[in-house]
Amino acid sequence: MRSSADTAVRVTMTVNGSQRGIDVDPRTLLADALREELGLTGTHLGCEHGVCGACTVLVDGEAVRACLMFAVQAEGAAVTTIEGVAPAPGELSDVQQAMHECHGLQCGFCTPGFVVSIHALLERHPDPDDAQIRDGLSGNLCRCTGYQGIVRAVQLVASRRNARAAGGGAPSGVTA
Ligand code: FES
Ligand code: FES
Repeated sequence: MRSSADTAVRVTMTVNGSQRGIDVDPRTLLADALREELGLTGTHLGCEHGVCGACTVLVDGEAVRACLMFAVQAEGAAVTTIEGVAPAPGELSDVQQAMHECHGLQCGFCTPGFVVSIHALLERHPDPDDAQIRDGLSGNLCRCTGYQGIVRAVQLVASRRNARAAGGGAPSGVTA
């Protein structure tokens, strides 16, 4: 009988800006590789079949469910996990800051997936309307918040980024 060591495949990818090489079984999911081989446990596993969005990461800038992708499929790709969205260690990304201010989380289990999805959403739609926000968040489930704080967080980040881009002062908050 062959052991998994016999079938291990070398996968090289850029994870949160650093080149990483890991040896994985071909059937290893990207989520498991990130969590177990690289120790990036901020990528959560909820349903493990593509429904909840807790495992969302960016692969070459696109939000993907890491439980639906094999690690070998990420060969050569740039992967960003929740650990890589902040500008520096100990800091929050603007999305994380807004989620905090808008009470966009309670237990926090879904939060890494939402934060990653929101970063991707705002890349696609820098000034999203309500339908675009709801569509952008539709792949993520939250059992705690009722989503209103999460939607407000998206609106707050968009308004701050757009105010900065226009050269004006950043608004302190949004009302919804
Ligand atoms: S754990 Fe991947 S979508 Fe739920
Ligand atoms: S904050 Fe608990 S599941 Fe979303």
